[in-house]
Amino acid sequence: MNFYDRHPISEQQVLAAVARRRGGDLSRLTPDDLFEFDQDHYGGLKAVDDVARRAGITAASRVLDVCAGLAGPARFLASRRGCRVLALELHAGRAAGAARLNRLVGLDGLVSVVRGDATALPFRDGSFDACVSQEALLHVDDKLAVLAGCRRILVPGGRFVFTDWIARATLGERERARLAEWMAATTLQSLDGYRALLGRAGFVRVETEDLSDEWRPLVKARLATFRATGMDTAARLGEARVREYEQLYAFFVGLVEDGKLGGGRLSGSA
Ligand SMILES: C[S@@+](CC[C@H](N)C(=O)[O-])C[C@H]1O[C@@H](n2cnc3c(N)ncnc32)[C@H](O)[C@@H]1O
Repeated sequence: MNFYDRHPISEQQVLAAVARRRGGDLSRLTPDDLFEFDQDHYGGLKAVDDVARRAGITAASRVLDVCAGLAGPARFLASRRGCRVLALELHAGRAAGAARLNRLVGLDGLVSVVRGDATALPFRDGSFDACVSQEALLHVDDKLAVLAGCRRILVPGGRFVFTDWIARATLGERERARLAEWMAATTLQSLDGYRALLGRAGFVRVETEDLSDEWRPLVKARLATFRATGMDTAARLGEARVREYEQLYAFFVGLVEDGKLGGGRLSGSA
């Protein structure tokens, strides 16, 4: 079963949270009504803004968001910068949910959704000015294929900026195996590993930033949020899944606190 079939962040849970906040009223929603709930990465809207700034995104940019989830970051970019964003997402439910949420808040003119695999981008060479991705490449075995694809679809000089989990040398094989089994996290890279892959994919002006210190409190806060919304998750996925998810997330938080896992932001120019 796909990890995202049984994930606490879903279209249904986003709308349940928004409804609760608005006393049950889901009429005339704006993108801002969703932002507290539709971002599936660490650091919320500030993290999207940090990525956007490094990618040089303006109203004129054609932006590709790779592994876009429910397209929360894509809607934020479109609503704040006025740019067009194409949200590429593999999971059928998430891609459909992303498209419905775009329509619900009136952003379907600027944000479109394509269901597809990041390792085989279905776009023409040089068709985007900027490419972004947040907390997603951890799920992809063949990271070089994703990076090479992003390089190919960018115009010359276009910038690719992404954030992801970063593995340290102290992360053991058994811990890697548990992360793979429980959270579909695979071939985790160090910052240097990513730097080398970006070079092999043809990127220049590569920059890497270690975000681990910023992420440590954020991943703990995420566990607290998950516990606070356990009711919604239980209604959708059952009590057993809530307990299982809490356990695996606590394991992940432990690795971050022990410094075996961290976060990084990476950028390169085509
Ligand atoms: C942690 S979520 C991040 C979503 C989004 N970037 C955000 O910040 O809200 C990771 C997403 O990557 C998607 N994904 C995983 N492997 C993928 C692939 N090979 N191609 C496209 N999407 C993929 C998952 O389905 C999931 O929606």
